[in-house]
Order: sequence, then C-alpha cells, then structure tokens
Amino acid sequence: MHIETQRLILRPWTLADAPYYETMSRDIGYNCFASPGVYLARDAADLIAKIQKRIEAYADHGISKFPIFRKTDGAFVGTCGADFFELDGQRELEMGYRLLLEHWEQGYATEAALAMRDYLFQKVGASALYGFAVRQNAGSIRVLEKIGFTYRQPIVYGDVVHQLYEARRRS
Ligand SMILES: CC(C)(COP(=O)(O)OP(=O)(O)OC[C@H]1O[C@@H](n2cnc3c(N)ncnc32)[C@H](O)[C@@H]1OP(=O)(O)O)[C@@H](O)C(=O)NCCC(=O)NCCS
Repeated sequence: MHIETQRLILRPWTLADAPYYETMSRDIGYNCFASPGVYLARDAADLIAKIQKRIEAYADHGISKFPIFRKTDGAFVGTCGADFFELDGQRELEMGYRLLLEHWEQGYATEAALAMRDYLFQKVGASALYGFAVRQNAGSIRVLEKIGFTYRQPIVYGDVVHQLYEARRRS
C-alpha cells in the first residue's frame, strides 16, 4: 500500500519508524481526545510492540492506522487509517485520523481521509466505514462530514459517548 495525495504520502509502518511513533505518543494535539496514555510508549520495547501490532494488522487485513508524511520535506504529520471495532455484535471498520498539533488546520486530515476512504472501499473491499468522535471534537466531526460520512447515532466507546458517522460504498 502506498497512497499519494496532492501534498501527502501514506504508507505502512516499519520498525525504523520508532522515532515517529515516539513523537506522536508525546504530542499534545495528537493525544488531546485520546484516552489518557493509550498511545504512550512506556519504553523502547513497548514502542516496538506497538508498531509491530500496526505492521501485523496491515499484513493480516490490509488495514492499519498508517503514518502520514508531507511530500515537500518528509515531515511526519500524523496517522490515518482503520481498525476493527464492534457495532451491534458485528465486526466493522472504524476509520480515524490524528495529527500532530503543528499540522492542524491546513486541510491535511481531510486530504488524507478522502484518500484512505477510497483505499478502504476500493482496495480493502469494505462495504461500510464508520467514524466517531466526541461532540466537543468539532474539527474531527467536520472532517467526517467533509468526506461524505453521515450521522447515524450516539455510541459509547471507551465509556464515553461519541457521535457515530457512517459511509457506504457505492456499487
Ligand atoms: C481532528 C483533526 C484530525 C483535524 O485535522 P485538520 O487537518 O486540522 O483538519 P482539516 O484542516 O482537514 O479540516 C478541519 C475542519 O474542521 C474545522 N474545525 C476545526 N476545528 C474546529 C472547531 N473547534 N470547531 C468547528 N470547526 C472546526 C475547520 O475549520 C475545517 O473545516 P473547513 O474546511 O470547513 O473550514 C485534528 O485536529 C486532530 O488531529 N485532532 C486530534 C486528534 C483527533 O481528535 N482525532 C480524531 C479522533 S475521533
């Protein structure tokens, strides 16, 4: 998998990406709506284990929360991709994006998410995609709307009420 947009590149994780994972695990913008500590790597071994999990998800299912890089200078921007989650007893795909604070408000999340949506529908073969965010996360909800997701219902995720959005593949 290698996705190129006008300004960004998304590609699979490798173990050489440990410095990027460490940067995102400590970035206040990347983590501001995450459960506390969920992305934090406690030590070098934990860091490698977390990347390994993302590498395995891609090897097994073609999905992951992939790293995003800016084309002009190779800067690490954040992540975008999908993970499995359970909805009404079914395994479904949740699409998500998170950026380092310095890269917010430049249209990068929308640009990456549009390309990821198409990859998940066309290459992975997903028939439905879901995205969710807490109501206060207006930027994230706006991105979901801009890429064509529609509101479905409230959903409790990690003990917190989120707004669930859905997109279906057009045949
Ligand atoms: C949410 C996030 C990914 C958005 O990234 P981004 O690159 O800044 O998003 P974009 O620039 O593509 O688009 C953001 C849109 O939301 C709007 N927006 C941003 N903050 C907003 C706010 N507080 N209230 C209302 N709208 C807001 C922007 O104006 C823009 O809409 P527009 O193009 O119509 O003007 C980024 O803020 C982030 O990483 N947040 C922390 C992690 C996170 O919350 N991830 C989602 C978890 S569910």
